[in-house]
Amino acid sequence: MINIAIDGPAGAGKSCAAKLVAERIGALYLDTGAMYRAFALAMIRRGADLTNAEAAAELVGKVDIDVGISGGTQHTFINGEDVTDELRSVEVSAGASAAGLVPEVREYMQAKQREIAGTYDVVLDGRDIGTKVLPNTPHKFFLTASAEVRAKRRFDEMHKENRPPFDEVLSAIIARDEQDMNRAADPLRPASDAIIIDTSDMTLNEVVHTILESVISVGR
Ligand code: DC
Repeated sequence: MINIAIDGPAGAGKSCAAKLVAERIGALYLDTGAMYRAFALAMIRRGADLTNAEAAAELVGKVDIDVGISGGTQHTFINGEDVTDELRSVEVSAGASAAGLVPEVREYMQAKQREIAGTYDVVLDGRDIGTKVLPNTPHKFFLTASAEVRAKRRFDEMHKENRPPFDEVLSAIIARDEQDMNRAADPLRPASDAIIIDTSDMTLNEVVHTILESVISVGR
């Protein structure tokens, strides 16, 4: 079994790199952020206040967040309903970061992620994979890049017709990172044995190559 942990802030290039690494080694790719996003969407649909930790903790156990692979891509489900296409808005992004503050939510997600990692060869991207979900995997990477570069990547991914101004994307990214890094429960930080990769001036291929070289040299 091979489990690869790829952590880092929003827009550091985790998901693109993780997908390609998974493809190259014949492993699954698990986007753990999508699970927090689905949970946030479930809160939003209930009209719940996303900053209310008690309401979030109460929803754990009432809602089932699941993932599956179809057509080679991850689909994410709330109680069996495929919500994949609704997870990328700025509102859901901010909500996912808020949901990630709540220890009960984190424990629920981490248990599911460990179960998947115990069953399949998986590349997981997230915030706490190396520090909390899979502290024993020898394959830990922490991707980072300047806030401007990360915001530019997110901005370029958005549809031209209805994207917010660049400054708004940048400040949303900075606010989310602050919250993810400074939360009490499993804050975003590199594991002590993670390889830190600054992707600001790297191509995606270079990032993938760096990760694969390390994985191959460490071995299974
Ligand atoms: O990776 P992403 O941008 O889709 O993640 C959305 C939010 O979910 C992120 O701001 C914090 C939270 N998250 C987390 O707390 N732990 C993870 N392993 C993944 C995401």
